[in-house]
Amino acid sequence: MIKDKVFSGARLGFIGVGNMGGALVRAARKNTPSTSICVANRSPEKARALANEIPCRVKSNAEIAAWADYIVLGVKPRMMGDLLAEIGPELSARKDRFVLVSMAAGLSVADIREMAGGGYPVIRIMPNTPCSIGEGMVLYTRGPGVTEEEERAFLEAMAGAGRFSPIPEGLMDAGSAVAGCGPAFVDLFIEALADGGVACGLPRAQAMEFAAQMIAGSARLLLESGRHPGELKDAVCSPGGSTIQGVRKLEEAGFRGTVMNAVIAACEKNGKLK
Ligand SMILES: NC(=O)c1ccc[n+]([C@@H]2O[C@H](COP(=O)([O-])OP(=O)(O)OC[C@H]3O[C@@H](n4cnc5c(N)ncnc54)[C@H](OP(=O)(O)O)[C@@H]3O)[C@@H](O)[C@H]2O)c1
Repeated sequence: MIKDKVFSGARLGFIGVGNMGGALVRAARKNTPSTSICVANRSPEKARALANEIPCRVKSNAEIAAWADYIVLGVKPRMMGDLLAEIGPELSARKDRFVLVSMAAGLSVADIREMAGGGYPVIRIMPNTPCSIGEGMVLYTRGPGVTEEEERAFLEAMAGAGRFSPIPEGLMDAGSAVAGCGPAFVDLFIEALADGGVACGLPRAQAMEFAAQMIAGSARLLLESGRHPGELKDAVCSPGGSTIQGVRKLEEAGFRGTVMNAVIAACEKNGKLK
C-alpha cells in the first residue's frame, strides 16, 4: 500500500444509495466535483436516477471497489456480509490506499474488517436523516490504520452533510439512539404539538409549520447560545403563566422519563442489531 497518498480531491464511491446513502451522495456533491463521485445500487434504476440528479457516474459494485479512495457502504446491516464478500477480490487486488466507510447500525469497525477480510482501514459513521438537507448530525469513529490525513479529507469531502463529531466506538450505540433515532422521536413530538393546535382550532398546515419552525428555532437557540435547556425553559415560563401549566401536564405524564426510556430502548436495540 502507498502510505503517503494525498487525499485532497478524494474519489468517493457509494455502494447502496437508498435513503441514507442517497442523502450522503447529495451532501458529498457540495464539496466534491461530480467527476470524483460514483454510485452503485442493487436496483440500477435508483443509481441512474440519482446519477442524473447529481450528476455523477454509475458504476458496478466491483468497479467502485477498485476505484474509490473512500468506498461508502450504504446497504442494510444484514446485507453487509454478502456485499463485502462480493467486492473482496477487487479490494484485495488493490495496490493503492483506500478507506471503507460504513454507516450500518450495530456493525462495529471490527465487524466490517472481519467481513471484508483484509484488515482494511474503516471509518464508521452514524448519520441521520437531516443530512439530506445539510443539517445532519454525523457521529464517527476512526478505525485502526486510518490516518489523520484520511480522516481530515473525508470530513472535508462530506462537510455538506452537516455537523460531524468523533465518538469512541463504545458510545456509538448511545449516540445513535439520540442522533440517529432522534428524528423519529422529534417528528412524533411535532405531530403531537400540531394535533394539539388543531384541537384548539388551528388549521392543520399552520399548526404543523408553527410546531416545526418552533423546534428548529429552539434547537438553534440552544446550540448558538450554549445555554442550558432548563434555563431556556425558565425564560418562557412566566410566573402564574400559561407555559408552566403545560409543563405541569408534561411532568405529570412522565414526559422526560418517557423520552429517556425511548433513548435507552433504542440504545439497547442498537447493541443487538448484528
Ligand atoms: N435511515 C436512517 O435514518 C439511517 C440512519 C443511520 C444509519 N443508517 C444506515 O444506513 C444504511 C442504509 O439504510 P437506508 O435506510 O438508507 O436503507 P435503504 O433505503 O433500504 O437503502 C439500502 C440500499 O442498498 C441497496 N443495496 C442492497 N444490497 C445491495 C448490494 N449488494 N449492492 C448494491 N446496493 C445494494 C438497496 O438497493 P434496492 O434499491 O435494490 O433495495 C438500497 O437502495 C443501513 O446500514 C442503516 O443502518 C440509516
